[in-house]
Amino acid sequence: MDARIAVLGGDGIGPEVTVESVKVLDAVGRRFNHEFTYVTGPVGGLAIDTTGQALPTDTMNIVLGSDAVLFGAVGGPKWDDPQAKIRPEDGILALRKSLGLFANLRPCKVYEQLIDASPLRPELLVDVDFIIVRELTGGLYFGKPKRRWENSRGRRAVDTLAYSEKEIERVVRIAFELARDRKKRVHSLDKMNVMESSRLWREIATEVGIEYPDVDLIHMLADNAAMQIITNPSIFDVIVAENTFGDILSDEAAVIGGSLGMLPSASVSSLPPKNGRRRRGGKPSLYEPIHGSAPDIAGKSLANPMASILSAAMLLRLSLGLESEAQAVENAVESVLTEGYRTGDIATTGERPLTTSQVGDMIAGLVAG
Ligand code: IPM
Ligand code: MG
Repeated sequence: MDARIAVLGGDGIGPEVTVESVKVLDAVGRRFNHEFTYVTGPVGGLAIDTTGQALPTDTMNIVLGSDAVLFGAVGGPKWDDPQAKIRPEDGILALRKSLGLFANLRPCKVYEQLIDASPLRPELLVDVDFIIVRELTGGLYFGKPKRRWENSRGRRAVDTLAYSEKEIERVVRIAFELARDRKKRVHSLDKMNVMESSRLWREIATEVGIEYPDVDLIHMLADNAAMQIITNPSIFDVIVAENTFGDILSDEAAVIGGSLGMLPSASVSSLPPKNGRRRRGGKPSLYEPIHGSAPDIAGKSLANPMASILSAAMLLRLSLGLESEAQAVENAVESVLTEGYRTGDIATTGERPLTTSQVGDMIAGLVAG
């Protein structure tokens, strides 16, 4: 198969981890006879420095001409002035919005090999395997008005949490579709005790749920969910939530498994066809680790490339329909963990951590066979 992949490393550790994913994709190409070509362009802080835009038009054109996007991370202290007109994060937000990627899939899996690295007691980690479906192009991130101003009484700012029924329906539907192929349980999160938008969310989730009688729908307040994720994580199968709730809870969920450096994500506008074929046409989906640019460790070869590599596996599966190839990558990650090779974030005391590229080389080596 031929595929054109836009590789946007971004800032901080973004480029370092994405390079390792490309190594792994190359290994997949060699082993399974695929021709992957890579196109690249600036995004985020570095793009602001060189072009004045967080998502330059040239980069957007590269993205639109590709089959899928492998994204690193954006942001850093250099661009963190709260008064700044343009922010690196605008780059990723604009990409998600303009590609219509309204569903962000964040699988939270606990690897047996990493139980020691988890802050939770091992008995809480039995059977933990859930996926967060985060609404990604609406909610508090995108609602209007969104602005800041000043009047005689001082400075003020507003963000708006708004949803149309269509926006809620389509993302909740994705959650139900995923649950059908899993443990058939959807937890829909909201704050219906406080927010009007949450009451609409709950109503629509209930309506969609009627079409999926084989799936259990449980409504849960988002704050309660924050507690359950660390006290009772094995109750969850599929969680669906508003953009901001999903952002916050997925960072929380990530550390259950030992490190933020392990969690991949896929941002999509639909699920792949059930016949396992590759979806043609339409706008590309985007794959990125859920961690950020981690400026404190950037350039030191300390970052864990596994979240990015696992995102590349999701790309193979969801955008290219390459299930065996995706599994080969996931198996290689597991094997490396089983052998005890780790970057610093998941190493236990006494272990000598490997560098980002050593881990990438090992995974690529295993994939190549
Ligand atoms: C994420 C990140 C982004 C978000 C930032 C970088 C804009 O935290 O993907 O979770 O808030 O969506
Ligand atoms: Mg986040």
